[in-house]
Amino acid sequence: MPIEHAKVSFKQNGTPIADAFDDVYFNDGDGLRETDYVFIEHNRLPQRWIEHTQFTFVIAETGFGSGLNCLRAMQHFAQFRKNHPDLPCRHLHLISTEKYPLQVTDLQTALAQYPSLNDLTQQLIAQYPVAIEGCHRLEFSIDTTRISLDLWFGDILTTLPSLPMETDGLVDAWFLDGFAPSKNPEMWQPELFEAMARLSNFNATIATFTASGIVKRGLSEMGFTVKKVKGFGRKREMIIAILEQRPKQTTENRAPYYARLPCAYRQQTIRIVGGGIASGTIALQAVRMGLKVEIYCRDEQLAQGASGNHSGGLYPQLTSDISIASLIQAHCFGYAMRFYNDLLSRQDFGYEQCGVLLLAHSDAVKQRQWQLQQKGLWPSELVKNIDAKQASKLAGVELHHDGLFVPQGGWVDPPSLVNALIEQAKLEGDCTLHTLNHISNETIQTWQAKDISVVIAMGHHSSQLQSLAPIPYRLVKGQIEHVPSNEQSQYLRAVICHKGYFTPAYNGYHALGSTYDKSKIDSQYRTEDAQINWHTHDKVMAGHTWYDTLERDTHGRASVRCSTPDHQPLLGALPNILRQMDEYQALYKALPLHHYPLPVNYNNLYLFTGLGSRGLTTAPLLSAVLLAEITGKPLPMSQALLDALQPNRFLIRSLIRQAPYET
Ligand SMILES: Cc1cc2nc3c(=O)[nH]c(=O)nc-3n(C[C@H](O)[C@H](O)[C@H](O)COP(=O)(O)OP(=O)(O)OC[C@H]3O[C@@H](n4cnc5c(N)ncnc54)[C@H](O)[C@@H]3O)c2cc1C
Ligand SMILES: C[S@@+](CC[C@H](N)C(=O)[O-])C[C@H]1O[C@@H](n2cnc3c(N)ncnc32)[C@H](O)[C@@H]1O
Repeated sequence: MPIEHAKVSFKQNGTPIADAFDDVYFNDGDGLRETDYVFIEHNRLPQRWIEHTQFTFVIAETGFGSGLNCLRAMQHFAQFRKNHPDLPCRHLHLISTEKYPLQVTDLQTALAQYPSLNDLTQQLIAQYPVAIEGCHRLEFSIDTTRISLDLWFGDILTTLPSLPMETDGLVDAWFLDGFAPSKNPEMWQPELFEAMARLSNFNATIATFTASGIVKRGLSEMGFTVKKVKGFGRKREMIIAILEQRPKQTTENRAPYYARLPCAYRQQTIRIVGGGIASGTIALQAVRMGLKVEIYCRDEQLAQGASGNHSGGLYPQLTSDISIASLIQAHCFGYAMRFYNDLLSRQDFGYEQCGVLLLAHSDAVKQRQWQLQQKGLWPSELVKNIDAKQASKLAGVELHHDGLFVPQGGWVDPPSLVNALIEQAKLEGDCTLHTLNHISNETIQTWQAKDISVVIAMGHHSSQLQSLAPIPYRLVKGQIEHVPSNEQSQYLRAVICHKGYFTPAYNGYHALGSTYDKSKIDSQYRTEDAQINWHTHDKVMAGHTWYDTLERDTHGRASVRCSTPDHQPLLGALPNILRQMDEYQALYKALPLHHYPLPVNYNNLYLFTGLGSRGLTTAPLLSAVLLAEITGKPLPMSQALLDALQPNRFLIRSLIRQAPYET
């Protein structure tokens, strides 16, 4: 479903009003004090953080609006951390939902009246996501305090009940905000209160500005102990509540075989096997979650596998429909650029958000791009149609084709990225790198027996685990050419993509890629493959002087992609295939879902591979997902998207169809 922006007016004092609801976003003239009184004080927040024994404290909010409540909570949390740097609670995780996100300009205007939040407002604006349904994870920092915000776009009655959760509860405190129940009765439904109870931890608290009977009854019916207290300002009363008994959890609507269960052993150490972008992204995210990280790489240097190329394109692969595959791409892309922008402010690495041109190089592609424009389901900040003249202007060199433009896309130099990730992980936490360490299956199993969490991020070598868990890997060799830039090509400003791709000059070279050879899995550079690469590009770009004058030297690099039959990555607990084959063999009977048990996996072995041709786009968000799975924290993706990444999905699909499981 496309997401509509809110239509907002402003009172003279700057207070925003939602036109459709004729209600204010926050207290007229005293928004900050209202937030403090209603949501912070009545959830007893600073005191709860002092008492909290876990690393992460989770607050969920209904109705993100201007973000005022969330930003204010972040500010209080940073102050708490400053006052109590040695207490265990070190990370604040906010979850908020929004059906009608504000336009970024309205957000700016709404928050302008709170200069004390200026730094956080700037961080929010810099990361504010495009209007696409689903979860957008944003990361904030105040000094050394890090705060995550999962901003779910969509109707709360859909997003909240389907928020993925396999633990005994996720949320410690609720900001039950929203337009007044009389002005927005559609939101204040029993499903909302039911979802809140399902997601709440034992002793989770709720604070809300309203004293409405519907809210009081709705919460009581779900098991919350509800109390009325003095309201803010002129309001006589408001409601607070606590969940002293958790409701029985049901899995009726969720497929148990795709459950993402937290690691059974709450070890503080995580071992990562691999030295590519998958390892680098998970290492940095893991130290940020307070874990000790050990990386084992078989090569002498990092990034010697698929992540060793000169430069690669960063953009989402979108279809004209909002499919699961497209949503995975769009969300991963949004997170990747936010993640890289943040990293660039801390470490030096090759990355530029110069824009990506996807040229309509054939009639079929032209047709697909035309459909994408006609349906208009993707926001234009993400992707827009352009003609050849505009394409040439954006590229800085002449081009003949119309196409699509991804303005926030760009290129990344993977080896410098991987090194920057590990350097940053070492700076921020306890991270050690063990190179020239080839890890065998036997070693992995020894670690597993010692209850250590292990992430397999071995790129195409992950197929070494076939004997432990047979999975259909598809290994594809790819070669790129290193093309010296010349007088004219140096002006190229955007990444050009068609059947191949061509990046702007970096360190004096363009990357021209790439072959896609399913028949080979060696890393040898071949002149025949160089010819294939040039031929692909000649078909689209020959005739332009800037291109024709490029030196056709035969220098480049070949490596192997790890892909899968459906081209989606493999992310999650390593499945115990034999056991699952047995336990789920009746799937074809389509019995009710609760009939099936939760999966038994190799409890603490996780797979993070299958990044195929899009690892630069997907690795950052996927590593956040995997870490959330391991630690039992909020997952930044909807269930449907998560299911599409499960390493056991090929087995499950074959059992449903009663077809043989082929690997
Ligand atoms: C030609 C080509 C062009 C590409 N272009 C793009 C592009 O434009 N945009 C894009 O987004 N993506 C692109 N990709 C894909 C991208 O490069 C990959 O998705 C990504 O690099 C995969 O990273 P990885 O960490 O999973 O694997 P790798 O980078 O292959 O890393 C695997 C690591 O595991 C280590 N390892 C393996 N086995 C063991 C073991 N037993 N013990 C210890 N260590 C082990 C290896 O030494 C290596 O360090 C391209 C890929 C190729 C091949
Ligand atoms: C009072 S405002 C919230 C103010 C916000 N907490 C702040 O700090 O600015 C209520 C918000 O709820 C959103 N909303 C209304 N109905 C919704 C629904 N069904 N699902 C999700 N969000 C909804 C509105 O668009 C609006 O942004």
